[in-house]
Amino acid sequence: MDDEGLLVEGIPDGARLVLVTPSHQYPLGMAMSLRRRLALLAWAEEHGAAIVEDDYDSEFRLGGRPLEPLQMLDDAGRVIYVGTFSKTMLPTLRLGFVVVPGSIRRAVMAARFVADWHSPLPTQRALANFIRDGGFARHVRRMRGLYRERHDRITTILARRFADELRVIPAATGVHLAALATRRSAGRIDEVIAHAASLGVGVQATAGFAVDHEPRPGILFGYGGIETDRIEEAMERLRTSFDVR
Ligand SMILES: Cc1ncc(COP(=O)(O)O)c(C=O)c1O
Repeated sequence: MDDEGLLVEGIPDGARLVLVTPSHQYPLGMAMSLRRRLALLAWAEEHGAAIVEDDYDSEFRLGGRPLEPLQMLDDAGRVIYVGTFSKTMLPTLRLGFVVVPGSIRRAVMAARFVADWHSPLPTQRALANFIRDGGFARHVRRMRGLYRERHDRITTILARRFADELRVIPAATGVHLAALATRRSAGRIDEVIAHAASLGVGVQATAGFAVDHEPRPGILFGYGGIETDRIEEAMERLRTSFDVR
């Protein structure tokens, strides 16, 4: 990846399926540029491959206009669009949705049938009613404002108190943000995170997500579960954790 998201030329030969998170790369957080989206679609068409577009948190835009989802740009039926209610509602609800090209609709339905048939109908019905009555849209609007506030508070503190240690990767959406370490190793960041945990602050290392390449040391801040007025104190404890040895 680079600042525009997935490097299409880096996709291994013979790949038949690519899973991407174009709205908000997970975990680093950059949005995939329009140019890169078009290149990925062209690659899929050329190689007879499929793309899974995991659009897991685009409901929480922080501002600006969204880029077209791959699914909307796709006119060759290569994109399988996947959404979830884990972020907008709650992860334990276990409900999501998928928009598949017509050519694989029957196969996907058959696969779901042999996997677990279907999600619980009462929860589906309750959620459908919530959406139909406007409650879902209201909830998302309210949470979007709250999450934006938390995001802005964290980025302001990062700029004021952590400029020597961390560089934020700008994100357009979501309930988390990533900041890369400017001068510390992945091992040292692990120590900082462990110390912060001993002070009751939970953040994750970006390096833990690297599969088969040199990890980029950094920290992932999830703000879905923290009260806005506790952020300042938590960030101060994290700052302390950088300074102790
Ligand atoms: C990248 C990504 N995709 C999707 C999800 C949601 O998955 P699920 O709908 O299975 O809870 C998450 C986590 O919540 C995620 O981090």
